[in-house]
Amino acid sequence: MIYQIHRYPAELIDVVSLSAERIVIRPVLPQDEDLTSAFFRSLSPRSRHDRFMMSLREPPRDLMRRFTQIDYRDHLALVAEMFANGREIVIAEARYVRKPDPTVAEFAVSVAEPWQGKGLAGLLLAKLVCRAAVLGVERMVGETLASNARMLALARKAQFTIRPSGEVRGVMLLQRELSAPRVGQGCNAVDLDALAA
Ligand SMILES: CC(C)(COP(=O)(O)OP(=O)(O)OC[C@H]1O[C@@H](n2cnc3c(N)ncnc32)[C@H](O)[C@@H]1OP(=O)(O)O)[C@@H](O)C(=O)NCCC(=O)NCCS
Repeated sequence: MIYQIHRYPAELIDVVSLSAERIVIRPVLPQDEDLTSAFFRSLSPRSRHDRFMMSLREPPRDLMRRFTQIDYRDHLALVAEMFANGREIVIAEARYVRKPDPTVAEFAVSVAEPWQGKGLAGLLLAKLVCRAAVLGVERMVGETLASNARMLALARKAQFTIRPSGEVRGVMLLQRELSAPRVGQGCNAVDLDALAA
């Protein structure tokens, strides 16, 4: 099957320095299927469980395809990668997918263990929120296990409200209203916090 990529939002490519390493943040590409799969396999069972809210030993192929063949509008995924011995290694991923109501999008994020606690998830989430707002999303939502203290702390810090799911026990619902960004403001701007609702 020939896959034709939608317009690639190259303006979202960014380079940041983290623990003295050069990290490239960019929208995912269809050819990242193996890199993405390797990333999820590299997570600890606990992190993988927290990310998918179920035990998942091997990331399913069709899921990895859906994670990498995206339209960059209704489904946007960013990967953060570093380079070691000339090889690309994905160290984090974050995505949103719009709901049937296109003003609402659901996000998820994960960061490889050695890179956790350095602000990477917060940065990826801020970029996602910014881009989503630019494309007309008015509310960002997410779900996480009530036991996932790291995600709850991140959500709180990123100005999401948190409440228990009325439907599934042990699941918390995250929600943040987005404000329209200022015209011409890019999502690589340092003052991402200015987008706070
Ligand atoms: C949750 C997760 C994405 C956070 O990633 P991260 O890059 O470590 O997060 P950040 O460094 O950006 O931290 C942002 C805030 O989250 C909180 N946080 C992060 N790690 C924490 C920890 N180990 N304990 C408590 N709070 C933590 C802090 O408030 C932190 O802000 P601060 O350090 O400036 O005070 C990461 O732990 C992860 O990938 N977990 C497994 C997958 C997962 O649970 N995904 C969520 C599904 S939606």
